[in-house]
Amino acid sequence: MSFVRTLREDLAAARTHDPAARSNLEVVLAYPGLHAIWLHRLAHAMWNRSHTLRLPARLLSQLSRALTGIEIHPAAKIGPRFFIDHGMGVVIGETAEVGADCMLYHGVTLGGTSLSATKRHPTLGNGITVGAGAKILGPLHIGDGARIGANAVVVRDVPDNATAVGVPAINREPAAPESWMDPAMYI
Ligand SMILES: CC(C)(COP(=O)(O)OP(=O)(O)OC[C@H]1O[C@@H](n2cnc3c(N)ncnc32)[C@H](O)[C@@H]1OP(=O)(O)O)[C@@H](O)C(=O)NCCC(=O)NCCS
Repeated sequence: MSFVRTLREDLAAARTHDPAARSNLEVVLAYPGLHAIWLHRLAHAMWNRSHTLRLPARLLSQLSRALTGIEIHPAAKIGPRFFIDHGMGVVIGETAEVGADCMLYHGVTLGGTSLSATKRHPTLGNGITVGAGAKILGPLHIGDGARIGANAVVVRDVPDNATAVGVPAINREPAAPESWMDPAMYI
């Protein structure tokens, strides 16, 4: 996918996820979450291009942090159509991975619990929403479609489509399908 198309999709994701967004121009000018992901896309490309660009990539990431209050390590892998609403206080660590169509609110940390230089940050699947102030700590896996409640502290894997709330976060499994109502079962 082309770089420009990725940036356009991030803009469209902001429009989709924020009912207060009234125009593309307003989002481009006034949404720090969009500025942060755009600057991260550039920093990540620099990080992957050559070792000599890694320091400039870190500096760009720090400039983005100063401007938006959102700190994303340039090595973090973030999928398409990503949106951070409000921004301020978000931290996304070096080995974090985020799938497609994910959304974070302000104050979210995708953080590590280990000081060793290995995979130590979470992996988020696709279509995940992480509520304001939530912390997801360690090399956990958050399943597709999961929702993380505001201010949750997640220290265990979260299954697909589950909702995790509280400290430490407890997974509320999705309701079981009402298969007993399926007439095919009563032949
Ligand atoms: C987790 C969340 C997605 C669940 O939404 P929901 O499916 O509509 O769930 P409900 O509000 O019906 O609550 C279901 C249960 O979870 C509890 N719950 C919901 N959110 C919670 C939270 N953040 N922390 C702790 N418990 C929570 C409710 O008290 C309720 O408990 P009960 O079943 O014992 O009564 C939502 O509450 C949330 O936190 N969204 C984040 C939104 C956000 O950060 N907005 C910021 C805008 S600036």
